[in-house]
Amino acid sequence: METRDLRRALPALRGAHHPGVWPAPPGGQRRARARVRAMGALTVATLSAGEVRAALPDLARLRISVFRAYPYLYAGDADYEQGYLQAYAESAGAVVVVARDGDLIVGAATAAPLEDHAPEFTAALQAEGYRPETIWYCGESVLLPAYRGQGIGHAFFDAREAAGRAQARVWSAFCAVMRPPDHPARPPDYAPLDPFWRRRGYQPLPGVTAAFDWAEVGGDGAAQSHQMQFWIRALT
Ligand SMILES: CC(C)(COP(=O)(O)OP(=O)(O)OC[C@H]1O[C@@H](n2cnc3c(N)ncnc32)[C@H](O)[C@@H]1OP(=O)(O)O)[C@@H](O)C(=O)NCCC(=O)NCCS
Repeated sequence: METRDLRRALPALRGAHHPGVWPAPPGGQRRARARVRAMGALTVATLSAGEVRAALPDLARLRISVFRAYPYLYAGDADYEQGYLQAYAESAGAVVVVARDGDLIVGAATAAPLEDHAPEFTAALQAEGYRPETIWYCGESVLLPAYRGQGIGHAFFDAREAAGRAQARVWSAFCAVMRPPDHPARPPDYAPLDPFWRRRGYQPLPGVTAAFDWAEVGGDGAAQSHQMQFWIRALT
């Protein structure tokens, strides 16, 4: 199977802006929460490459919808997203884990060998003395707000870290966008995920960052550079 560089599949975002429409959970958000609590209706599963291909439009809409919010403020494009996600279907070692409410995909998380990701990501970690072939890179985790706070984020990490161990990776890493505490778009009730990541055993690597480009919600459609902070933990 062809292994593609995920970063090449993810060029700087320019041009058309799509609002990232996502269907409401069946019965509305409050009922979705109640149903999940009452019936355990949420399921988490790792997709095969074929299933990833079939789910591409849903996964694209999901990413656009969730990353539109602070801190990412990502003004995504459905066609472009499908290209990005297609790379996961074509990366031999990659995993895509989804959360479903019935048949509806409401969350997803990705991971792949670091070598399949951006050369800049590899360079940043290599400069710190890490060998790329030892690193498992967690790409993103996204869950619709109605389904948060019920352990799906933990399940996403559990599944991805298990896949990394199964591929004999020593480290698990990811990076997260850096925003100043006084960013004008930060909602008053925003709670950073840093405590969650620390409880999962991850630590930020001081000064280890990479630049990643995307167009922001409310911007002129031109891609802007964003600094991303690396986090890492041992898998062994
Ligand atoms: C990351 C995300 C998938 C986690 O999903 P989740 O199912 O709510 O996570 P869990 O229920 O497993 O909870 C994980 C931890 O986050 C904390 N948490 C839950 N909701 C939270 C919120 N709204 N804000 C901050 N922390 C929250 C919980 O306290 C929990 O911590 P603990 O169990 O260690 O005490 C979800 O928050 C999300 O989609 N966020 C937006 C996208 C994003 O920023 N992704 C991460 C970078 S790619």
